[in-house]
Amino acid sequence: MTTIRVDAEHPEEEAIARAAEVILDGGLVAFPTETVYGLGANALDEAAIARIYAAKGRPAYNPLIVHVPDAAAARAVVTEWSETAAALAAAFWPGPLTLVLPRHPRVPGRVSAGLATVAVRVPAHRVALALLRAADVPIVAPSANPSMGVSPTRAEHVARGLADRVDLILDAGPTRVGIESTVIDLSDDLPTLLRPGAISSDDLRPFLDDIGARSAPDSGSNADSGSGAGPTRRSPGMLDRHYAPRAAVRLFEPGSEADALALARRAANDGRAVGAIVVDPERFAQRDRRDDEVFRIIVRMPPDPRAYARELYATLHRIDEAECDLVLVEEVPDTPAWAGVRDRLKRAAS
Ligand code: TXA
Ligand code: MG
Repeated sequence: MTTIRVDAEHPEEEAIARAAEVILDGGLVAFPTETVYGLGANALDEAAIARIYAAKGRPAYNPLIVHVPDAAAARAVVTEWSETAAALAAAFWPGPLTLVLPRHPRVPGRVSAGLATVAVRVPAHRVALALLRAADVPIVAPSANPSMGVSPTRAEHVARGLADRVDLILDAGPTRVGIESTVIDLSDDLPTLLRPGAISSDDLRPFLDDIGARSAPDSGSNADSGSGAGPTRRSPGMLDRHYAPRAAVRLFEPGSEADALALARRAANDGRAVGAIVVDPERFAQRDRRDDEVFRIIVRMPPDPRAYARELYATLHRIDEAECDLVLVEEVPDTPAWAGVRDRLKRAAS
């Protein structure tokens, strides 16, 4: 595994050319997008796709997102390009929105885990776009982490998680959005939100008459047992436990700090290393001095959903580095702007 530093705004041509060569040779390149680092491979190369699944330990039923440099390239990997798709692409691309559409036969079925659809997006990152243009093939890129683990927002996270299972890492520093793209399925009459992300349902609503939601992210195993239509449609990748650090994650409601502290004290008494992730440490830790010994680490998070999302995964990686056994996380508001963060926290805790 080699890491090359690249300028996020003006990516060096030489680095991009080398990465494109690795992709065209069937190798794996980790590269930054505006959301998280992706593990890239040539979407038209069956063997390279197989290497992605193997490197991540990803179950074969979980389909991949195809990344393309513009809407014209997206149209080439699908068989239908509806007015809705065109409007969403015009409004949000390049950007953190993934559209699920009927798959063109030139895209190997393996990309989509055998589904008749394909997920496609244009990332808003100059390094990603330069790589897509230089390689001149669509690139599949799941988040560059071992399956079920915390997604990487920095090159160091990729190196630690995947090590020699990736051929080349393009390091352009921390990503801007911090959680994965919003995924919306347009392959059926009713557009369905499969994964909340930085683009909220409020942002999408002007473009859609109606939005179905995948069954609630917190509905346990029911989330994957939909009948195949409408609001409970099966969304293969949304495994319940996901985005999880090694520590057990317990969410607590603002207002129930006392209960959370009691839990932390009991765990610390049992010799467990405890962390906390809170927006307001002052309110949380109205504690006597003995509580300083209860927590190995307390991380303060920003009160704004975008800033919170940007820091979330790096914070979960820090919890892992601190070797916490348990981490208490203050719940965030139940509003559309916070839906992406709430979804990731729920999954980390389940
Ligand atoms: O922000 C992102 O989307 C990042 C960056 C690297 O682009 N990528 C990412 O990929 O998050 P991944 O593989 O970690 O998540 C892909 C999600 C999964 O939930 C998967 O089930 C869903 O997209 N997906 C992919 N193809 C699909 C399809 N044909 N139908 C339904 N869901 C699909
Ligand atoms: Mg992922």
